[in-house]
Amino acid sequence: MHLLNFKEFSGKDLEALVDLAIEVKSNPNKYLRTFEGKSAALIFQKTSTRTRVSFEVAMTQLGGHALYIDWRTTNFALADISDELQYLSRNVDCIMARMLYDTDVQKMMKASRVPVINGCDDMYHPSQILADLITVKEKRGKLKGAKLVYIGVHNNVTNSLIEGCTKTGMKITTVSPIFNEAARDEQILSEAKQSGLWESTLDVKAAVKDADFVYTDTWIDMEFFTDPKFETEKEKRIKLMMPYQINAELLKGSDAYVMHDMPIHRGYEISADAIESPKSVIYEQAENRLYSAKAIFLKLINP
Ligand code: CP
Repeated sequence: MHLLNFKEFSGKDLEALVDLAIEVKSNPNKYLRTFEGKSAALIFQKTSTRTRVSFEVAMTQLGGHALYIDWRTTNFALADISDELQYLSRNVDCIMARMLYDTDVQKMMKASRVPVINGCDDMYHPSQILADLITVKEKRGKLKGAKLVYIGVHNNVTNSLIEGCTKTGMKITTVSPIFNEAARDEQILSEAKQSGLWESTLDVKAAVKDADFVYTDTWIDMEFFTDPKFETEKEKRIKLMMPYQINAELLKGSDAYVMHDMPIHRGYEISADAIESPKSVIYEQAENRLYSAKAIFLKLINP
């Protein structure tokens, strides 16, 4: 089994994974030797802090070994992805890959003998959304019926968030004045529409009013953030998105928890007062990436 997105998961499967993560978080000692003698390869074509740290520490704390593989310093950069995967998957028990393109993650999955985890590509970010669901369940006691409002560019995180929320009975409203076409997935949108649990609006104030959770993400994907070729688009997005910043003014009268998947661009998608407000669960949410990674390894690797 691989983890590309949540399409193969029922709501029950997904909530079971959330519960497994919470169980591992509560009883870490029980799992200390689960993967003794096993290895996971972590391949990065893009930058990362949380995904690298969480999957590496997760494997260590489960008794196994994680190898960090920088795409640029290996022959992945020169050779055919499928050939390299054919080799790699004969030496490790699991592969986590953060790739630019979903099509390349899918090629890896086809060529691999062992489970491959999508560590965030241009379409999906499932391990992040598992951490988000863990956080919602911890704060609210249950997922079903929780109201989450996502404010930001419709991107890879939005896709997985819509899947994660609607499958587990949460209500999600997206406030996305910009739709990143590279991330468009009609199947996810159509199934979310059918569920009756997803709506989209540009009335940000009304959306936030009765939200339990308010969530944002970067307006610019990480690979473009410092790219001079993206400068004009970046300026355009900042101008268009600024009225949708999560800040104290927007949150006035709201009791919602504040979420962000990090890295944060302070003063852009979220202000310092919102990040540091007593309702912010941003760092807990990021901490939960570790338990998300552990649950994913436990589900995918046969101990
Ligand atoms: N949220 C997230 O995936 O963080 P990193 O990009 O630092 O891994």
